[in-house]
Amino acid sequence: MIDRKAAETLDARDPLAACRARFDLPEGIIYLDGNSLGAMPKSVPARMKRAVEQEWAIGLIRSWNDADWYPAPQRVGARIARLIGAGADEVVVADSTSVNLFKVLTAALGLRPKRRKIVVLRDDFPTDLYVAEGIGEQADVIVAAVEPDALLDAIDGETAAVSLTHVNFRTGRRYDMGKITRRAHEVGALIVWDLCHTVGAMRCDLNGVGADFAVGCGYKYLNGGPGAPAFVFAAKRHHATMRPMLRGWHGHARPFDFAADFRPASGMARFLVGTAPQLSLIALEAALDAFDGVDLAALRDKSVALTELFIRLIDQHVPGFGLASPRDPEERGSQVSLTHPDGFAIMQALIARGVIGDFRAPDILRFGFAPLYIRYVDVWDAVMVLKDIMVKLSWQRPEFAERRAVT
Ligand SMILES: Cc1ncc(COP(=O)(O)O)c(C=O)c1O
Repeated sequence: MIDRKAAETLDARDPLAACRARFDLPEGIIYLDGNSLGAMPKSVPARMKRAVEQEWAIGLIRSWNDADWYPAPQRVGARIARLIGAGADEVVVADSTSVNLFKVLTAALGLRPKRRKIVVLRDDFPTDLYVAEGIGEQADVIVAAVEPDALLDAIDGETAAVSLTHVNFRTGRRYDMGKITRRAHEVGALIVWDLCHTVGAMRCDLNGVGADFAVGCGYKYLNGGPGAPAFVFAAKRHHATMRPMLRGWHGHARPFDFAADFRPASGMARFLVGTAPQLSLIALEAALDAFDGVDLAALRDKSVALTELFIRLIDQHVPGFGLASPRDPEERGSQVSLTHPDGFAIMQALIARGVIGDFRAPDILRFGFAPLYIRYVDVWDAVMVLKDIMVKLSWQRPEFAERRAVT
């Protein structure tokens, strides 16, 4: 039986233990919601202060050149590239994940003009479905929304693109990127991976599996701050032929010619649309310092060890919960989802006790384990708080039933 002392020993041996000091974490809080909004890296405030007080206030418009604001989408993209197995010139940072999905799905349809089908997963993050559906309506494309078990069979010779999230947001189920990419390519389809719940929590190798396109957000395990810009990847082999449907002046080959005709920039810059949100981009760039020198294999090892420990402790100490996440760590991301009919109130009781996770209807309690700043003792302490709440029935207090806008 593992106890708190054993958890402390695991922390003492953790090769990533020192990374926690790179974050500003509030005293008395166990933050298990880095899969929703990452914690704030200490590198961010000083960088933001400089950006606001010097680059903006004093540099004014000159900072687009003098402070290197203009090339930031490519520069920050190049840093994210290392985390996802991409080349430095295959990633740019721009817009939101949803908007980037639109860009790559329409580009994929353009690369497969004779095919009229997009395959998505029915239980995927809703935005992924909505974006595909919207494109389907406008472009006379069939969107096949299938159950996970039917995915491989649904990918056929009519399919232009397959779009799915590598790690499911509700359950933490992790799909086999190599296998699904291979299936898409076997029938001549293109693959789009949504890496929102992957990037910054585990290694992934887009070029290793031969992925075509990918998108992901900056505010979860990348810790870029609320509403941080997202990123978009396209494999180099598509750069010359992919055509952006969502066109804007920052995607033009020569934006400051202000030409009436659109001529796409070379490479990933053609997926830029409007002016980048510089302050958010600067915050994301500074946040990425937290990954400096981090071995991505160690990151995944720790993520697996944390989720394994959590599941084991729940099994031992807190009966009455279902496990919505796969037990096999190979099939699991960096989050564990438990189910309970009173999940909402239980999560509110946990948050009131300083253990922050979140809730997804109808009955899912989500716990995210960001390997850079979560310790093994945090896992132990969180489970003990949950046990106490269940034993004392403290989740039944009326204030824990009250629902607010964000769950
Ligand atoms: C898997 C997945 N895709 C897309 C999104 C939406 O991202 P954005 O708000 O950047 O459009 C989310 C948000 O949580 C997500 O979890």
